Amino acid sequence: MNNTKNIVVLVSGGGTNLQALIDAQNRGELGCGKISCVIASRADAYALVRAENNGIKTRTLIRKDYADIASYSIAMRDALIEENADVVVYAGFMTILDENVCDAFPNRMVNVHPALIPSFCGKGYYGLHVHEEALKKGVKVSGATVHFVTAECDAGPIILQKAVEVFDDDTPETLQKRIMEQAEWKILPKAVQLLCDEKIVVENGKTYIK
Ligand code: GAR
Repeated sequence: MNNTKNIVVLVSGGGTNLQALIDAQNRGELGCGKISCVIASRADAYALVRAENNGIKTRTLIRKDYADIASYSIAMRDALIEENADVVVYAGFMTILDENVCDAFPNRMVNVHPALIPSFCGKGYYGLHVHEEALKKGVKVSGATVHFVTAECDAGPIILQKAVEVFDDDTPETLQKRIMEQAEWKILPKAVQLLCDEKIVVENGKTYIK
């Protein structure tokens, strides 16, 4: 019996979270999961180079080639079905896909967000903007969240979170780096492993780890 689950990773940029997943896979820490394909929304995403360097299949599905989110979402859904995706990971993927995708992969798509949801999340909160807003507000802790993807941005059931201290002299860049190192790169591979090993139960909008 082949238990292996195909993980398809969606990326838009540098791909350090993809690298954390690749490193976890190389250490045998993705459970039944295997990264089978990386799909980028931009042709210049460095994440594509990371995938190629590790012998992982890549595809590009360029957001700008599609008139709207609905047609892009349908194209993405079809690509994911073609790739036999069992689990879909948004790893620095900067496009919000609609229900055409989310409904096709219920409780099988996860996103890493660089803040403690429900703080600093939703439309417009992505990448460095999240950390700029956290510093503007003067929070003393921030962190990262891995959650299931639903059609509503950053609103799906929370799987794992990790808090990270904010320092007085932080810039958005230093805070981003610390949150990546101390939180994102740890909880994203862990959540993917739990999902691939079917250890996550979702009930009434909340998750429980078996
Ligand atoms: C990460 O901090 C990720 O959490 C964030 O963008 C960065 C991508 O870095 N994602 C979002 O803001 C999504 N709303 P990476 O390409 O090096 O993984």
